[in-house]
Amino acid sequence: MVRLLNVYTISAFAALGGALLGFDISSMSGVIGTDQYQKYYSNPLGIHQGAITSAMAGGSLVGALSSSFLGDSLSRKVAIQIGAALWCIGAAVQSASNGIVMLVIGRVLAGLCVGLTSSLVPIYQSEIAPRKIRGRIVSLQQFAITWGILVQYFIEYGCSFLDSTASFRVPWAIQTVPAVVLFVGLFWFPHSPRWLASKDRWDEALRVLAFLRSANNDVNDPLVLAEYKEVEDQISQEREEESNSYLELFSRKIRKRVLLSMAVQMWSQLTGMNVMMYYIVYILESAGIANLMLASSIQYIINMVMTIPSILWTDKWGRRPALLIGAIGMSFWLFLTGGLLMRYGEFNPVLNQPYTWIVVGHPAATRAILASAYLAVATFALSWGPVGWMYPPEIVPLRIRAKSVALATASNWVSNFALGFAVPPLLRYIQWRLFFVFGSFNIAAFIHVWFTAPETKQRTLEELDEIFEYGEPLWKSFLGGQRGSNKLDMLAKDIEMGVLRTNRSAHMETKHVNENIICRS
Ligand code: BGC
Repeated sequence: MVRLLNVYTISAFAALGGALLGFDISSMSGVIGTDQYQKYYSNPLGIHQGAITSAMAGGSLVGALSSSFLGDSLSRKVAIQIGAALWCIGAAVQSASNGIVMLVIGRVLAGLCVGLTSSLVPIYQSEIAPRKIRGRIVSLQQFAITWGILVQYFIEYGCSFLDSTASFRVPWAIQTVPAVVLFVGLFWFPHSPRWLASKDRWDEALRVLAFLRSANNDVNDPLVLAEYKEVEDQISQEREEESNSYLELFSRKIRKRVLLSMAVQMWSQLTGMNVMMYYIVYILESAGIANLMLASSIQYIINMVMTIPSILWTDKWGRRPALLIGAIGMSFWLFLTGGLLMRYGEFNPVLNQPYTWIVVGHPAATRAILASAYLAVATFALSWGPVGWMYPPEIVPLRIRAKSVALATASNWVSNFALGFAVPPLLRYIQWRLFFVFGSFNIAAFIHVWFTAPETKQRTLEELDEIFEYGEPLWKSFLGGQRGSNKLDMLAKDIEMGVLRTNRSAHMETKHVNENIICRS
């Protein structure tokens, strides 16, 4: 019988932290144009609306940077719970806000949560997942993000018909629901076995591994012991090296991985996806699309649906091909969108609109622009969206994982923040050329990935250390050295034959696990 609490359900629950990021992405876009919002906050424009919108990204940046400290000291699980609690407070402050200042404070608080959860959920997921499906497990975070965007967009649309401040207060209050579920649900979930081991809670680490990997919670299962042994070896090696984990982030050996994970998150923003997510309405209006609500909601649905193949097959495709093909695909669709706008567009005669370039009287071109915008979204959902979260925790050793992922997530938020500010004026001043700029960023991302990013699929987190140290030159192949590894299976065989022993398993008295123990916080 399949038990209810397994790697999938635990990760799907943890991914609610990702859903909060999705809620955050669309929490402003759905209310910003409503009369109720404009009237209550005295028509915030320019710097005022900029402060309201970017308060969330600012909070997220601080949250991401503090995630490593909280995630390492209190545990991944407890730090995610702190994030969920902050989100609830932030949502309450926003929905009760009596003016711009209170709204900004509420958004900073909620942003702190998003920074924490967006860094720690992928770490937690990748540390509990077996290597064969680690990509699938972590892509649940991206799936939850896409759901969050979609659900919040529809809630805000529905509430826009309420003729009072409830039209924005209700959607902001409803945001607490997933956070409460996440906060409470985590009490029943185990800690990351790798985090437990790093705190010398070895018995618990072994029990959690047995719970996650063996149908009978068998702590003597050779595969469980093999994984345990790997964690044990890695931690003792790390302790022998006696490195200072903060300084180590910049050591010659590690720095290239930290920079790579920061770059992957930065490129995922520079793909141009958020031009579509945040400003699709401007693009559609300038392209002459009549039904904006329908056209934008289709985009959010495509984003969610196209994440599904990635969840199912990313462990087969590999990360490197997804990033490379994703960058080329995004580049193609963005150049096409820009080219069509250039060829069929003209200056907008109506002043005071967010866009200065429009397409009129070219229905076929309008449909083609819409199609290529959708295809860009689909391409991102299949590639950079999930892999952007999956890759950073995979490529660094345990002792610096939380710190390195925090920097990578911070790089996502800095880029996100900068684009949030830069895209509206750029759309006004350089119009269709903006798409060429993002198209070019994708080519740069392709080149960077081609030369620096190895394949990580199906490797144990510990094996990746070896790949970075002694791997073959990447540029020689598209797949980047992705031959499957069977190191764990070999270890399991040795343990089964009694050739190899873990240091701690001898001390374990019980063969079967009391499930309550692993749920203890
Ligand atoms: C990115 C967001 C983006 C979202 C779209 C996430 O991975 O970090 O910036 O809006 O995907 O689905």
